[in-house]
Amino acid sequence: MRGYVPGEQPQDDGWTKLNTNENPYPPSPKVVEAIQAAATGRLNIYPDATATEFREAAAELFGVTPDWILAGNGSDENLTILIRSFCDPGSQIVYPYPSYVLYESLAAIQGCSVSRLLLRADLSWDSSEAAELSEAARLVFVPNPNSPTGNLWSADELQQLLPRDGILVLDEAYADFADSPHSGELLREERFAQRMVVTRTFSKSYSLAGIRFGFSVADPELTGGMHKVRDSYNCDAVATAAATAAIRDQDWMLANRRKVLATRVRLATALAELGFNVTPSQANFIWCQHPSGRHQQIYEALKERKILVRFMQFAGVRAESGLDDGLRITVGTDEQTDLLLAALTTIMPEQT
Ligand SMILES: Cc1ncc(COP(=O)(O)O)c(C=O)c1O
Repeated sequence: MRGYVPGEQPQDDGWTKLNTNENPYPPSPKVVEAIQAAATGRLNIYPDATATEFREAAAELFGVTPDWILAGNGSDENLTILIRSFCDPGSQIVYPYPSYVLYESLAAIQGCSVSRLLLRADLSWDSSEAAELSEAARLVFVPNPNSPTGNLWSADELQQLLPRDGILVLDEAYADFADSPHSGELLREERFAQRMVVTRTFSKSYSLAGIRFGFSVADPELTGGMHKVRDSYNCDAVATAAATAAIRDQDWMLANRRKVLATRVRLATALAELGFNVTPSQANFIWCQHPSGRHQQIYEALKERKILVRFMQFAGVRAESGLDDGLRITVGTDEQTDLLLAALTTIMPEQT
C-alpha cells in the first residue's frame, strides 16, 4: 500500500505556514494552565481511561449524554477506530472525491475496498450514483465542510449517502468555521440517529494541533462498540486536561473563529483580484485555482519565499470537473495574509 503523506511540517522558524489548516491564534490561557496542572500532578499514574470530565463537557455542547462521546488521540484516531469497529477485510468504504485521502490509507490497512463518489464541477454529486454506491457500504466518510474544497453539504444531500446496513461518518474537522456549526440536532433526527457518527478535532478551531485530541459523537450503542476496539488508555492525561479546558472555554474559541472568518473574506477577495477562481469556503482555508493552471509553480515560488501553502493534485477526478489540482491556503492572521498577498503580487505576473 501507499502510505498517507501528511503536509510539510518544517520545525525551524521563519515560515509563514498556511498549508495544514492550523489555527494561527494561540489556545486559551486556561488550556495552558490545565496542561501545567496536569504536568505537575499525577503523571506517574494512568489517566482516566474514558476521559470522563472531557466527555461530560463535550456531551453538554452537543446536547447529548456522555455515553455518546468517545475521545481519541486526534480525530484521525477516531477514524481508525471507526474502520476497525465497523469494517472487515473486503468491506466497502465510500467517500466523495476529491476530499481527505487518508480514508483510503486507513481502508487499505484494514483490507477494505474503496469507491470514490466523484464530485462535479459545482461540488455536488449525482444522487442516484451516491445512493447506489452507499447502499452496500459499511462506512461512508464525508468531511463536512469538505477538504480541500471548503464547501458544506446539506442534511438532505447527506441523507442520500446513508448506507443500508452501515454508518455515515460526518468528519467535522472544520465545522466550527461553518455558518451552522452544530450537528447535535442532526444526530438526534430519526433519519440519522443510530446510522451516523460525527467526528471532531481540537487541531483547528481550538488551536491545539500540537496536542493530539479528537472525539466522536454517536448513539451510545455505536459508541459502546467503539470503546471495545480502542486502546484502553488512548488519550493521555495532559492532552485530556488541555482538551477539557479548551472545550469549556467556548468564548475563546469563538473569538478566534470570528477573526479567522473576517480574514477569510479578505483573503478570498484579494485572491479573486489576483485572478484566481476562489471557491466559497465554510472552513478555515480557501481552495483556489488559477486559469494558468500553474499551481505547482506558484506553490514553489511561494515556498522559496518561506511561505507554505498546499499544492494538491487528484488523479481520476470526474472529467470536466476541473478538480485535478489547485492550491489550498489556510486562513492565517492578517499579518500572514499580508505576506502571502505581497508575495503573490510579485509572483503572479511571472506565472501568467
Ligand atoms: C477532513 C479532516 N479530517 C480529520 C483531520 C485530522 O485531524 P486531527 O488533527 O484531529 O487528527 C484533518 C486534518 O487536517 C482533516 O482535514
